[in-house]
Amino acid sequence: MFERRLLGKPLNVGMLGCGHVGTEVARLLVANQQDLAARAGVPLTLKKIAVRDISKSRPGIPQELFTTDLASIVDDPDIDLVIEVMGGIEPAHELILRAMKNGKGVVTANKALLAKHGAELFHASDLADVDFYYEAAVAGAIPILRPLAESLVGDHVERVMGIINGTTNYILTKMHESGSSFKDALAEAQALGYAEADPTADVEGFDAAAKAAILAGLSFHSVVTDEDVYREGITGITAEDVKVAKEMGFVIKLLAIAEANEVHGSKEETITVRVHPTLLPQNHPLASVREAFNAVFVQCESAGELMFYGRGAGGAPTASAILGDLVAIARNRNEGSLGPTETDYADLDIAPIGLARTRYLIRMHVADKPGVLAAVAQVFSANAVSILSVRQSGRGEHAELTIMTHIAPESDLANTVKDLKRNEVVTEVESVIRVEGIPA
Ligand code: NAP
Ligand code: HSE
Repeated sequence: MFERRLLGKPLNVGMLGCGHVGTEVARLLVANQQDLAARAGVPLTLKKIAVRDISKSRPGIPQELFTTDLASIVDDPDIDLVIEVMGGIEPAHELILRAMKNGKGVVTANKALLAKHGAELFHASDLADVDFYYEAAVAGAIPILRPLAESLVGDHVERVMGIINGTTNYILTKMHESGSSFKDALAEAQALGYAEADPTADVEGFDAAAKAAILAGLSFHSVVTDEDVYREGITGITAEDVKVAKEMGFVIKLLAIAEANEVHGSKEETITVRVHPTLLPQNHPLASVREAFNAVFVQCESAGELMFYGRGAGGAPTASAILGDLVAIARNRNEGSLGPTETDYADLDIAPIGLARTRYLIRMHVADKPGVLAAVAQVFSANAVSILSVRQSGRGEHAELTIMTHIAPESDLANTVKDLKRNEVVTEVESVIRVEGIPA
C-alpha cells in the first residue's frame, strides 16, 4: 500500500467568517483531519476564526478559536493559509491583499469580490508568490474552474452556457412543474431556505452575473468584470410565459452565456457575456437540471461538448470545493511550487449586447382581422429578422401571436420590438424571451 509521508510541519489555517459555509469548513477540517493530512502530505490545523459576533452558537467548533479581530488572522506570522468566507467586497478585499502580502496562500468563495477585483487579486498573488484558489466561487461543489484553468487549457473554449444560480432554478422549476406564479414560487424557495429574505441578488441575476464574469475571464483569458455582463433577472417571467413555453416543448431557465463572437469572419475578436431567462427545448441537457442544482455546459474546439452538474450552493457542498483548494495549496507548498496563475493574455474586448446573436420568442396581442399577420411579418422583414414559426391563439377581436425567430442580432430584434410596439395592429408586446439550444 502506498501511503503519502507527512512531509512538513503542520500548516496553520485562519478563517475569515464562519456562517453557512465557514461552519461546514470548520466541521470538516476537524472531522476529516487525518484523511486531509494524508492527502495534503501535511497536517492542516484550524488555528483562528474571525467573525462579527463570537457569542453566536456554533456547535462543534471550539470557542477559543474565535476572535473579532480580522487583522489578527491575516497578520499572524504563524498562519500559513487563509480561507475567506465572510463575503462582501470590503473588508474582504483588503484582508485578502494583506494576507497575500504577508505570504499566505488564500482560498475564497467570494464571487462578488472576484467579479469586481479578480484581476487585481490574481496580480497580487503573483507578485507575492502565493497561491490563490477560488473553486467554490462558481457553482459551489461542481469542479468547473480548475477544469477550465487546467484540464481544458490546451483547448479552445468557444462557449460556456450554464445554470449557475440555484435559487432561480428552484423558482423556475416550481413554476414549470406546478404552474405557480413567480411570487408563490419565490415564497416557497424562501420557506425552504434557498432564497434569502432579500432575494434581489438571485432573482435579478446579480449573483449569476458575477459568476458569469469569472467563467468568461477564465474561458477566454481576458479580464471580465460584473459590469461587462448583460443582465436580466427572472422577476418578469409570468405563469403564462411558462405555460406557453411548456405547450411549445420548452422550459425557461436563467442561463449565463459567455461566447466568442465572430467579427468579420475572424474568430474570437470579441466576447459577449449575458445572463437572462432563456427558452431551452425540453430535450436539451440543461433543461433537465431541476430545483436548486447547477450545471455548466462547455463547448470546446477539440473536446466538443462537456457538461458539469451538481450542487451549486449550500454549506457542505461549498465547503467541499474549499477543502479541495486547501489541499491543493498544501500540496504545492510541500513541493515548493505554486498552482497555475491566471492569464489575461488574450485581452479580448467585450462586445455590446446588441452584437449578441440568438433566437427569440415574442408573444404579442393583436387585432384579429385580415392583413394583421402580413403587417406583423412586414415589421420583422423590415428589420432583417427572419421568422421561424408563428402560432396564433384566441378568437374574437383580439388574438395572441407567438413568433419564433431565426438567429438574429440583438440590435435588430430590439428595433423589431420597438416597431411592433408602435404598429397600430399590435395591442401589446407581452414578452420577449431569448431561445437557445435549437440546432442550426
Ligand atoms: P454567511 O452565512 O452570511 O456568513 C458570513 C460570515 O462572515 C459570518 O460568520 C459573519 O460573522 C462573518 N462576517 C461577515 N462580515 C464580517 C465582518 N465585517 N467582520 C467579521 N466577520 C464578518 O455567508 P455564507 O453563506 O457562509 O457565504 C460566505 C461566502 O461564500 C460568500 O462570499 C458567498 O458568496 C460564498 N458562497 C456561499 C454559498 C452558499 O451556499 N452559502 C455558496 C457559494 C459561495 P457572524 O457569524 O458573526 O455574523
Ligand atoms: N444564492 C446562490 C444560489 C448560492 O442560489 O445559487 C451561492 O452562490
